[in-house]
Amino acid sequence: MSAEASVYPVPEFASSTTHISSEQYKTMYQQSIKKPDVFWAKQAQIIDWVKPFKTVKDTSFKKEDFRIKWFADGTLNVCANCVDRHLPHNKDKIAFIFEGNEPGNVRHISYEELYHHVCRFANVLKKHGVKKGNVVTLYMPMIPEAIYAMLACARIGAIHSVVFGGFSASALAGRLDDCGSKIVITADGAQRGPKTIPLKETVDLALTKTKKATVQKVITIKHTGAGCHMKEDQDVWYHEEARQVQDECAYEEMGAEDPLFILYTSGSTGTPKGVLHTSGGYLTYAALTHKYVFDYHENDIYWCTADVGWITGHSYVVYGPLANGATSVIFEGVPTYPDAARFWQVIDDHKVSIFYTAPTAIRSLMSKGDDYVTRTNRSSLRVLGSVGEPLNPEAWHWYYNLVGRSTCPIVDTWWQTETGGILLTPLPGAMSLKPGSVARPFFGIQPALLNKEGKEIRGAGTGSLVIKESWPGQMRGVYQDQDRFFKTYFDTFKGYYSSEDGARRDKEGYYWITGRMDDIINVSGHRIGTAEVEAAINNHPQVAESAVIGIPHPIKGEALFAFVILKMGADVKAVFDADLLQLIGRNIGSFAKPETIVIVPGLPKTRSGKIMRRILRKIALGKTNEIGDTSTLSEPRIVNKISELVLAAQ
Ligand code: WT7
Repeated sequence: MSAEASVYPVPEFASSTTHISSEQYKTMYQQSIKKPDVFWAKQAQIIDWVKPFKTVKDTSFKKEDFRIKWFADGTLNVCANCVDRHLPHNKDKIAFIFEGNEPGNVRHISYEELYHHVCRFANVLKKHGVKKGNVVTLYMPMIPEAIYAMLACARIGAIHSVVFGGFSASALAGRLDDCGSKIVITADGAQRGPKTIPLKETVDLALTKTKKATVQKVITIKHTGAGCHMKEDQDVWYHEEARQVQDECAYEEMGAEDPLFILYTSGSTGTPKGVLHTSGGYLTYAALTHKYVFDYHENDIYWCTADVGWITGHSYVVYGPLANGATSVIFEGVPTYPDAARFWQVIDDHKVSIFYTAPTAIRSLMSKGDDYVTRTNRSSLRVLGSVGEPLNPEAWHWYYNLVGRSTCPIVDTWWQTETGGILLTPLPGAMSLKPGSVARPFFGIQPALLNKEGKEIRGAGTGSLVIKESWPGQMRGVYQDQDRFFKTYFDTFKGYYSSEDGARRDKEGYYWITGRMDDIINVSGHRIGTAEVEAAINNHPQVAESAVIGIPHPIKGEALFAFVILKMGADVKAVFDADLLQLIGRNIGSFAKPETIVIVPGLPKTRSGKIMRRILRKIALGKTNEIGDTSTLSEPRIVNKISELVLAAQ
């Protein structure tokens, strides 16, 4: 059965109650493309402005007059939009239902409580000298305090840089050096299922590895209760600081284009980039997509399972839902603890109506059997979402039929750290669904597919997925490296934003993401640059060179496969996989450890020295008969040698 064969029409009940119907989508989409200024001026009223903007869109992707500005002369405060403005009517409404790692550890936080927590946190930051424009780094578990800290930064105009708690000390150190952060906010530890992760200890180690020594204060939240070493003059406990300040704090009036946050993400080359997002456009786009893509209504209980360490956590745990005054579940734990029914149990416990998660979680729970799902009820569910990697049709059907009892539209949302919010997605109630497809563009998004010559493909076809015009949520720069911003995203295809993803469009205009076209590998939704993993492996004193590729994996989506060349004279038996894995864990984080490592005598390279990853992929998959012509290689015979070693290793 071809993927196109199954189409799920908009269910009757959905189209009659959703914000956007098929007809409305068509009209609004046309307007958003033809008259972007009119469209966005109106839609930007989804948030409150201190000083209204006069200019809407001021953007160009061309080198001569490259600029991306939205609502530039307007002012606002992002935190006030997420918190203060809900107080007059909704102060008792629950903002967050915190579901801790241990079942039964539940906390409800109202908007009024959120307001006071955030103000207090902002005052603690101010007490330690944090000012508008300073960067504050967060290295936190998925607990309410992480969100208070983010919002506190936004309140006083500081720029937050959240580093996912799974990154190693070295990775954290590199990010601290890059942004010159003076303050780090962390916790004693994080709980993830049966494991406790010592976050503060990792921060301490990171501080011994930074080159620039910009960090002056580490503010630590007491969470697990595990003791940790506190260094005089540098380390303070948050709860002690919080006692000394007020729980009211005026917010800063910010320009729409003032930075809101940076978030580091992997590129195909070099060190991770600090993706910079600004205030007005980002919040407008996060709020609008959250409302329409999930068909959010006031009484929904919304749950996005992402960690705040990733962009999904920023846009769809924190900023979008809070701007809309939503009640969200936030979850500290993992989907399989205490068992594989946890997600579905939490959905029942809190009557979750909108659920947004990642394909890797869906596939991993699917592999545990249906009983974990069927023992729960899930009748509160109305809309299901997916993000991060392609949702393969088999997992789609399981999610749709079993989890969603064949009644909930699935929104498979395509976007990136760089895009700030969802760009391609079905809208529930407006579009029929095709399993495996991310459907159509959101309002204001003009996707195109380019062929190898950079020409636009019309109608059905496959090519490089680019975006033709700016949208408000787009990243504004690579922190402190504007040249890299232009070179990375606008130079490959002149005049377009290049996503580095490949995609197919069917004859009805539905998009199907075919995967990255650069050297980025998506392991369980974690974006990993092959260059970073190779650099970590090459740190081993006995290693001469390495090449890392991604191969399909039934649960993780992709898995890493490493080919390693040792230095002359190195003893093959003395270089253990375990050493290399440990090295990668230390340099990046455990999630970047390859599934397979094979020691090889050489790598397939062109005469100019470029590694032919395409050939390595075929070898890793045992498809040596598909390798084709190797005559352009500098040493064609190496292909057979590597194939034999790979076979022997399996
Ligand atoms: C890359 C971006 C956007 C938040 C999470 C990831 C892949 C993302 C989908 C999807 C197929 C997807 C793309 C993209 N991706 N969503 N629905 N279907 N692929 O953000 O870490 O910046 O990664 O994730 O390859 O380029 P990110």
